[in-house]
Amino acid sequence: MLSKYVLFGSVLLGGVHGHLFNYETIQLSNNHLTKIHPKSLDSTSLFSPRQQQQTPKPLHGRCKTYPGDLLWPGKPIWDLFDLLLGKGSLIKTIPEASICYPEWGPRHSPSQCEELTKSWNNSTLRIEDPTSIRSILFQGMTCMPPDYTPFFLGRKQVNCSVGGLPEYTVNVTNVMQIQLAINLASNLNIRLVIKNTGHDFGGKSTGKGAINLWTHHLKDAEFYPEYHAAGGEEGYVGPAFKFGAGVQVYEAYALAKKYNVTVIGGEGKSVGFIGGYIQGGGHSPLTSIYGMAADHVLSIQVVTADGRFITADATQNTDLFWALRGGGAGTFGVVTSMVVKAFPRIKTTTLTYNFTTGRNFTREKMWQAQRAYVDGFERYADLGYYSYYRIRHVSGELYHDMTSMVAPNTTEEEFRQVMKPLWDKWEEIGVPFSPVIRELDNFSDAWEMAFPHEVWTWGMRQASRFLPRGVISDPEKRKEMMDAIKGVSDEGANILMFNMRNPPGSERINNAVNKAWRDILGFAIMFVNWNVATDSGGWVETLSRNLTYEWNPRWKKLTPGSGTYMSESDYIEPDWQESFHGDKYGELLRSKEKWDPEGVFYATNAVGSEKWELEEVIMGHLPSQNSKLCRRN
Ligand SMILES: Cc1cc2nc3c(=O)[nH]c(=O)nc-3n(C[C@H](O)[C@H](O)[C@H](O)COP(=O)(O)OP(=O)(O)OC[C@H]3O[C@@H](n4cnc5c(N)ncnc54)[C@H](O)[C@@H]3O)c2cc1C
Ligand SMILES: *[C@@H]1O[C@H](CO)[C@@H](O)[C@H](O)[C@H]1NC(C)=O
Ligand SMILES: *[C@@H]1O[C@H](CO)[C@@H](O)[C@H](O)[C@H]1NC(C)=O
Ligand SMILES: *[C@@H]1O[C@H](CO)[C@@H](O)[C@H](O)[C@H]1NC(C)=O
Ligand SMILES: *[C@@H]1O[C@H](CO)[C@@H](O)[C@H](O)[C@H]1NC(C)=O
Ligand SMILES: *[C@@H]1O[C@H](CO)[C@@H](O)[C@H](O)[C@H]1NC(C)=O
Ligand SMILES: *[C@@H]1O[C@H](CO)[C@@H](O)[C@H](O)[C@H]1NC(C)=O
Ligand SMILES: *[C@@H]1O[C@H](CO)[C@@H](O)[C@H](O)[C@H]1NC(C)=O
Ligand SMILES: *[C@@H]1O[C@H](CO)[C@@H](O)[C@H](O)[C@H]1NC(C)=O
Ligand SMILES: *[C@@H]1O[C@H](CO)[C@@H](O)[C@H](O)[C@H]1NC(C)=O
Ligand SMILES: *[C@@H]1O[C@H](CO)[C@@H](O)[C@H](O)[C@H]1NC(C)=O
Repeated sequence: MLSKYVLFGSVLLGGVHGHLFNYETIQLSNNHLTKIHPKSLDSTSLFSPRQQQQTPKPLHGRCKTYPGDLLWPGKPIWDLFDLLLGKGSLIKTIPEASICYPEWGPRHSPSQCEELTKSWNNSTLRIEDPTSIRSILFQGMTCMPPDYTPFFLGRKQVNCSVGGLPEYTVNVTNVMQIQLAINLASNLNIRLVIKNTGHDFGGKSTGKGAINLWTHHLKDAEFYPEYHAAGGEEGYVGPAFKFGAGVQVYEAYALAKKYNVTVIGGEGKSVGFIGGYIQGGGHSPLTSIYGMAADHVLSIQVVTADGRFITADATQNTDLFWALRGGGAGTFGVVTSMVVKAFPRIKTTTLTYNFTTGRNFTREKMWQAQRAYVDGFERYADLGYYSYYRIRHVSGELYHDMTSMVAPNTTEEEFRQVMKPLWDKWEEIGVPFSPVIRELDNFSDAWEMAFPHEVWTWGMRQASRFLPRGVISDPEKRKEMMDAIKGVSDEGANILMFNMRNPPGSERINNAVNKAWRDILGFAIMFVNWNVATDSGGWVETLSRNLTYEWNPRWKKLTPGSGTYMSESDYIEPDWQESFHGDKYGELLRSKEKWDPEGVFYATNAVGSEKWELEEVIMGHLPSQNSKLCRRN
């Protein structure tokens, strides 16, 4: 069976599974292992696929192997590893903020440190570092710019250490390097992590003593005007993109615009497209009309825990294909590329505004306005709209910003008509409100203008819950839910809300996306913020514990049987298997056991992680990535 692929102008003939990117054709062979360094033949076996019958290797202790352990490899092995990878590809971790610390040597620079301090919240810059991550609390905050020293953690000294960051990073530019790293980590029982952008809220892209696969530079992308997906008669035929592991949302959208199509990606601009986002079952401003991004994946290239490079699609390795679409990233393998459907260009109308409480506009009125908006959730979502907004405590007032409401396939005029009843109501209430509405003829530009560049914050924790249709459409239950949302806000939490649905029929899609997603009209996140340098440990710990044990349970109680989105959830979500995966958890765990029986891949609260524990906790209750990862007894 042959089909046609057009690659940026040139026409290729290929099999139904598409072709490989150049970086995917560079794969591990025995030849490579022996040729490069004949004298270290013994050592090269460390880089060969692990022998299955040695399970579990007798030398492997309960914990992963760490620097300082007897079995931790010496310099010659790391030098050989670098040589096999291609000299210079192995990077020993130097925390980004080490430039602020003279004990880190000649890189020390007070002026650069000042710049770094000012831009510490700029995700674009942090993404460019091999190990910097967003959720640095779970790393232990062991190397912060001095102004942000986490005194709330009882830190007595302003200093810098690697802490929970990985030990080494592989700057990945081909599949062979991924195979070498997996084989080494597996043979030597070393922790393995993957950093794509480092956005993950659960700190899943870091870990003490780990080898880190940094996928950021795998930027290849191709457009197929007519892709023939595997699956014969039933297979999709139509436009599609193949994206490399390092492609980010803004890059995917720019390509979609270039080829006059639409792709289903997230709101966050610098988030990775096929890493944690799709594999975690991420949502999109287009979810109300097109469902989840994971619903549109056609083919996946992946390196598995045994070092093999394989295709997962509708006809081969189908269980892995199922699990990688919503079952969670960093769990089943290292994905090197995905083929995803593209859709026709659509016009898109967006709305942004903000208002704040003040002398005339009381909190009571603020909540009246919020309730009036949520009264329309069912209507808006069923029209295909989406919104993302926040209600935060700012300088003693309650500040509400509609980051963006998105009405795809809708003209400004149609949109204004739909919103008119709400805006009339708001006028009655006296909402100080000046909307900015834009109609654009393509989603890419609409999104570009409507959403801000995201910042990374570090003194915060969050928890979340889906708002099922049954709760939102029933006036009594909706009122109770809004009371509970207002309740946690009154006690000091900030609120972040989404209004969206999954389109009819999406509940029948056979992938690992949490079933609870299919039945929502909203998704609510609460978060607490603190000042890392000035707030006390006791205060922060109470806030953090309240979030998990006091406040989120109130939302859960009102939404029985629902769940939440793993990638925007509580780091210590109780019963996370149920919340993130519902009745799909059993099947996911079977896939994990099959594809990674020894736990080469681990991420906190990822499928199969209940077999492992981190030895230390932060503030008595948050598992620390700056401690050993060990098998549970
Ligand atoms: C500012 C911001 C905006 C966001 N916006 C949205 C949004 O609009 N919609 C939404 O659904 N979510 C959104 N998210 C959540 C986002 O999807 C998750 O944080 C996601 O985990 C990020 O994936 P990443 O690959 O970019 O990040 P990373 O932190 O680098 O990786 C996240 C996880 O994926 C794994 N991983 C990464 N690459 C691969 C790979 N190639 N193969 C296997 N595993 C891999 C890592 O091991 C880690 O476990 C947002 C997050 C932030 C911080
Ligand atoms: C990011 O940090 C800079 C410098 O500290 C600050 O001026 C800016 O307001 C921050 N941005 C956000 C959105 O918090
Ligand atoms: C973040 O840094 C990038 C790269 O230097 C820059 O282009 C961008 O404007 C910065 N963003 C903010 C919000 O400062
Ligand atoms: C940093 O300071 C803390 C005390 O606050 C100490 O426990 C730790 O060992 C110090 N680390 C380094 C690298 O000096
Ligand atoms: C990682 O590799 C890319 C691509 O070869 C290169 O441009 C970049 O400079 C490398 N980064 C580091 C920190 O070595
Ligand atoms: C772009 O796509 C739209 C919607 O499918 C179509 O109407 C239009 O003709 C296309 N434009 C070009 C230049 O192909
Ligand atoms: C709002 O309050 C100020 C005084 O605090 C008053 O001057 C103004 O008229 C009020 N505006 C409205 C619309 O009530
Ligand atoms: C957009 O709207 C038109 C009618 O207005 C409809 O035919 C089309 O299916 C819609 N497209 C999507 C993607 O919903
Ligand atoms: C809030 O809205 C006003 C218009 O009402 C606008 O001028 C301002 O830029 C907005 N603020 C933010 C932070 O978006
Ligand atoms: C996208 O929309 C903008 C605004 O409507 C328009 O100027 C631009 O030409 C559009 N681009 C494409 C490729 O359709
Ligand atoms: C924690 O929750 C309790 C019970 O709702 C509340 O009384 C207390 O003020 C909260 N403390 C903090 C710091 O949020």
